[in-house]
Amino acid sequence: GKDGYRHYMLKEIYEQPQVIGDTVNSYINPETSRITMPDLPFDLARASRLTIVACGTAFYAGLVAKYWFETLARLPVEIDIASEFRYREAPMPENGVALFISQSGETLDTLEALRYCKRQGQRILSVVNAPESTIARESDAVLYTMAGPEIGVASTKAFTTQLTTLACLAAQVAHARGAIDDERLMSVARSLREVPARAAEVLAHDERLKDLAAEVSEARDVLYLGRGAMYPLAMEGALKLKEISYIHAEGYAAGELKHGPIALIDDAVPVIVLVPSDNLFEKVVSNVQEVCARSGKVLLIADRKGIDRLSDRVRWSVELPACDPIVAPILYAIPVQLLAYHTAVLKGTDVDQPRNLAKSVTVE
Ligand code: M6R
Repeated sequence: GKDGYRHYMLKEIYEQPQVIGDTVNSYINPETSRITMPDLPFDLARASRLTIVACGTAFYAGLVAKYWFETLARLPVEIDIASEFRYREAPMPENGVALFISQSGETLDTLEALRYCKRQGQRILSVVNAPESTIARESDAVLYTMAGPEIGVASTKAFTTQLTTLACLAAQVAHARGAIDDERLMSVARSLREVPARAAEVLAHDERLKDLAAEVSEARDVLYLGRGAMYPLAMEGALKLKEISYIHAEGYAAGELKHGPIALIDDAVPVIVLVPSDNLFEKVVSNVQEVCARSGKVLLIADRKGIDRLSDRVRWSVELPACDPIVAPILYAIPVQLLAYHTAVLKGTDVDQPRNLAKSVTVE
């Protein structure tokens, strides 16, 4: 049941500290803080390339992972949505590994992409939530997310546990490739182990996000902006808003703004900017200034540093805890989910069963 929550989606958002913790504990030894992924029947660290394929929210988890595998592990990554990848007859590299991410493990396009990669001689790894699913069965190795059953059509806890699993994997591969030293590996593991506690702190901003949802619910269009690993989070935020509140939203790379979408900005379009303190912080700050100069209504989601820097310019802000940039995508997912949730509730839509959508898309 819903355990007293009004919707499954809200219950599942609130379960995140618990299920992220379960996922962390299954991949990081709580005593030693060592990351111990299950042994794979192939050597991912020595793969020539990783190809990631998924759909929807799972695809955005894969996009975040691309930043981790490339930046942290120096492993080249190719990524695409399954419905495009599967028909392109892409040439696949020698000694390549292909990674499929799926909550249900039954998404048809993802499954067919997996079968294509198998025929092309790739080793098949998947990150799946539903045990005994078809994608799990047809993979050479499976890493399970410990989200438990996800009922709400909008994916929430599956996403953050996918990210958690992928961060553990990327860190281990980075270390095996000699791209990070013991100390950095330990610090990533420690940061991941702290995520459940930080996630609980983020959930404490629920009331504030509910107030801000009142502003969002008035809008016809919403823009989400981010850079680096926050770019996929911006797209995830826009997807969540579209699918449950039916408000048109776009997720954009902040640096791409001036190549077109800045023309949309006026004082009727809320612009939600995700800006943790990382190496791209100053770049996003100047993008926020560009938006403000065109009387854009900015909602800033940032830590203390970002809010101090921009408070005189932006209309609203939500303060998240400062964190290792590696774990920022996991924590920044939560306000994005809550904003979509409260906006949908205000609009009176069917949050758990949005129109035209199915939980698991087993048709082409
Ligand atoms: O079960 P899967 O993870 O393969 O599903 C993929 C997408 O259908 C799914 O993430 C969809 O985009 C969600 N409704 C997003 O909230």
